[in-house]
Amino acid sequence: MTHDVLIIGSGAAGLTAALSLATKHKVLVLAKGPLTSGSTAWAQGGIAAVLDAGDTFEEHIRDTMVAGAGLNRRETVEFVIEHAPQAIERLVGLGVPFNSDGAGLHLTREGGHSHRRIVHVNDATGWAVQAALLKAAEENPNITLLPDRSCIDLITGRHEERYSGSGRVWGAYALDTATGKVEAYTARATILASGGAGRVYQFSTAPRGATGDGIAMAWRAGCRVSNMEMMQFHPTCLYNLEVKNFLITEAVRGEGGQLKHPHTGHRFMPDYDERAELAPRDVVARAIDDQIKRFGLDYVHLDISHMPAEFVTGHFPTIHEKLLALGIDMTTQPIPVVPAQHYTCGGVLIGLDARTDLPGLWAAGECTESGLHGANRLASNSLLECFVFGEAAAQDILRCWDNLDAPPSIREWDESRVTDSDEEVIIKQNWTEIRRFMWNYVGIVRTTKRLERAAHRIKLLYDEVGDYYGHFRVTTDLIELRNLLQCADLIVQSALKRHESRGLHYTLDYPQTDPVARDTVLVP
Ligand code: FAD
Ligand code: SIN
Repeated sequence: MTHDVLIIGSGAAGLTAALSLATKHKVLVLAKGPLTSGSTAWAQGGIAAVLDAGDTFEEHIRDTMVAGAGLNRRETVEFVIEHAPQAIERLVGLGVPFNSDGAGLHLTREGGHSHRRIVHVNDATGWAVQAALLKAAEENPNITLLPDRSCIDLITGRHEERYSGSGRVWGAYALDTATGKVEAYTARATILASGGAGRVYQFSTAPRGATGDGIAMAWRAGCRVSNMEMMQFHPTCLYNLEVKNFLITEAVRGEGGQLKHPHTGHRFMPDYDERAELAPRDVVARAIDDQIKRFGLDYVHLDISHMPAEFVTGHFPTIHEKLLALGIDMTTQPIPVVPAQHYTCGGVLIGLDARTDLPGLWAAGECTESGLHGANRLASNSLLECFVFGEAAAQDILRCWDNLDAPPSIREWDESRVTDSDEEVIIKQNWTEIRRFMWNYVGIVRTTKRLERAAHRIKLLYDEVGDYYGHFRVTTDLIELRNLLQCADLIVQSALKRHESRGLHYTLDYPQTDPVARDTVLVP
């Protein structure tokens, strides 16, 4: 099936690109599972933008680079932050019902921000954004949206009927999960907007499909991948034995929530950082981890019950309702929380035009490393990155359209040497094993010994998963397992290469921060 442009992913990055490209070209958007399955729909806090008269681009840039521990690329940070007001304006134009107060859009506050600068739709911003983008895409006759397509690999020169060693990308092979058939989806230009790799960890706020598929596919096709050791852990995920990945937005701390020892009630953040609960995420997550380990706790408390009940329910209606159903009234009781993986700062290396290393392939959003986040993403900068780079990819493709050839004939997916699996248990076992050792060995606080242990496990698993992949017909679970393993490897390799502690990468063997910040760039 051929289209002008193929976009892998229907979240904020993919649909932003699709809407701009559809002004001129036919666009196909593929999603794994439902069209709302990415992280975008789950975003709570909001989108950062300088909109207040007392705020400046320079201050947002500085906050981003302080959180990113100097590893950010300044030109990217400037590019994204200066385009933020325009991105918000486009969303308002699409009908996103941002909260407003008398003076304009209501701005909330999150950790690491020196100003109130987060626009939001209550505490469920992502859902409103996803819905508005999807509505516009569904109404656009130039956009075809295909859910339930699990992309397996990018199509490059190697897959042309007349083999070529060129790395030119022509689309992707994807499994139709309803029919079990693999099809080649080709295009003049392909955009990866496939989200992060959070599910490589046992505890994550990310949805089930965040298995790093795009990062792994790009790596296998020949793209460089950067800063994968910079995995962000959100300090406050609900601790509940049944509901494992429910985020308690950072805006709860932004609006006065305090972190306390669950037995003594001691407010501990001021002991760790003068910014207390509003320190950047890496600092707060490490402090909670320290409390949990030092006192043998299962969780700590996040308490906003000192604020008036109407204030709490007014600001956090979704969270309030969800917690009530679990027997916690946040207007009168503290919330038990633990850190959990939240965001993949590293990814496929891109430039300001969203180009990757491979001709014909652009990338945007959480699957990329654009230089914005550095060693630690500032809260609410990631949806913003999706809008700015989704648009940048579209504009670059529109600019160079006349130089993009039509795709050649591509070989069909070869299933002649595989059969249906009779051992699905292997997938489950390996998936669980990866996520567990990544949590235990490659988590918030690292050591070289633990990283080496993880590397050893990964080596063994490569044989097992490779063997399975070579013999059995693909399923979404198998595709994801292969990619999870690939991403785990990229994270561990990157972590082993960084001989310092910076931002999210904290290792007891190298506690110092080097004077010069360097990216960890892996070359396939
Ligand atoms: P996603 O929205 O994750 O979309 C990925 C898309 O790719 C999906 O459509 C998926 O189906 C598709 N896909 C993946 N693999 C394949 C495949 N193999 N084949 C075909 N399709 C595939 N950021 C903020 O800025 N502000 C916030 O308030 C905020 N809150 C958050 C709260 C939570 C709980 C989480 C998890 C994240 C939050 N983030 C927030 C981060 C932010 O939501 C994400 O970084 C952002 O939405 C990523 O958008 P994306 O378009 O890159 O990818
Ligand atoms: C949150 O609401 O705490 C998440 C914000 C973000 O991840 O940027």
